[in-house]
Amino acid sequence: MKKILLTGASGFVGSHLIRLAPADVLLYAQCRHHEPLGNLPAGQIFQFDLQQPDWRLIRELHPDVVIHTAAMPSILACEQQPELAEQVNTTATVQLTDLAREIGARLIYTNTDLIYDGQQGNYDETAAANPLNVYARTKYRAEQYLLEHHENAVSVRCALVYGKALHRTPTFTEQMIARLRRGESVTLFTDEYRTPLLVDDLAAALWELAGNDYCGPLNLGGSEKLSRYAMGAVICEVLGLPHHLLVAKSTAEVDLPAPRPPDCSLDTTLARRVLCARLHGFTEGVARVFG
Ligand SMILES: NC(=O)c1ccc[n+]([C@@H]2O[C@H](COP(=O)([O-])OP(=O)(O)OC[C@H]3O[C@@H](n4cnc5c(N)ncnc54)[C@H](OP(=O)(O)O)[C@@H]3O)[C@@H](O)[C@H]2O)c1
Repeated sequence: MKKILLTGASGFVGSHLIRLAPADVLLYAQCRHHEPLGNLPAGQIFQFDLQQPDWRLIRELHPDVVIHTAAMPSILACEQQPELAEQVNTTATVQLTDLAREIGARLIYTNTDLIYDGQQGNYDETAAANPLNVYARTKYRAEQYLLEHHENAVSVRCALVYGKALHRTPTFTEQMIARLRRGESVTLFTDEYRTPLLVDDLAAALWELAGNDYCGPLNLGGSEKLSRYAMGAVICEVLGLPHHLLVAKSTAEVDLPAPRPPDCSLDTTLARRVLCARLHGFTEGVARVFG
C-alpha cells in the first residue's frame, strides 16, 4: 500500500482530498489547529506548525508521496505578515522539498493562478509568471525551488477553487448563495476574470497525479472563463435566485489591500492531456454541487 502524507489536511482542499482518497492508499495527515475530517486513527495524524515544522516525524514515516496543500492562503494576512508568509509558504516548502528528495518521495504542490500578473489571460505552463502580491510571490518562490531541486515533483497552479466546505468556514460561493437567499445584495467585480475550479475536480486531479509520473508545472482550472460578476449571474440563474441583488463594481472603485491581477484565466490543454479527471465549467459545477 502506498503511504501518502497530506499536509493541510484540515483545510478546504485537504478535507476533499480525504473524502475522495482511494481505498488502496495509507493516508497520513498533517494539520495545525484543526482536526482533519473523517476518522483517521490518531497515529496517522501529525499536528505541527510550519513555523516550527517537525520534519523528523516525516523522515521516520518515509511516505511514498507527499501532497502539500498546507499554506497561509489569505492575501490580506500575507500582506500584513510578509515574514510569516515567507516562512509558511516558501521556507517550509523548500525544507519539505529537500526532505522529499532525500527520502525519494514524489511531491505534489498546490500553487495558485495568482502567480500571473493578469495582463494577458489564458495562461499556459510556458507563460511567464509575475506575481503581484506577497501571497503569490511566496507561493511562486516555493514552486521555483521545488521544480528546480526535485525531479519527481508537480506544481499544480490552481485557479480560484469553489465548492462546499466540508467543515469550518463556508466558501465564498456558499457565502454568496447564503446572502442571496436572505435577500441581501452581493457586490462583485466585473473586471476580474478567472477559470473557477470545482474542488471535487481538483481533489480527483491531485489523487491522479499522486499515482502517475507527470512532473513539472500544471495549470488546472475549469472550462469556463468568467468575471466575478458573471459567476454571481450563473449562481442566480442555476439556483433561481434574484439577479437584481447583484451589484456590479470595477476593481478601481474599491480600495484593495493588495494588487489583484485582472485576468488569471488558465489554458488547461496540458492538464486535459495528462489527466482523466474532468474539469467542469462553473455553470455545470454549480448545478452539480449546489443545485
Ligand atoms: N482555495 C483556493 O481558491 C485556492 C486557489 C489556488 C490555490 N490554492 C492553494 O491550495 C492550498 C489549499 O488551500 P485551502 O483553500 O484548502 O486553504 P485553507 O482552507 O485555508 O487550509 C489551509 C491549511 O493549511 C494549514 N495551515 C495554515 N497555516 C499553517 C501553518 N502555519 N502551519 C501548518 N499548517 C498550516 C491549515 O491548518 P489548520 O486549519 O489546522 O490551522 C489548513 O489545513 C493552498 O496551498 C493554497 O495556496 C487554493
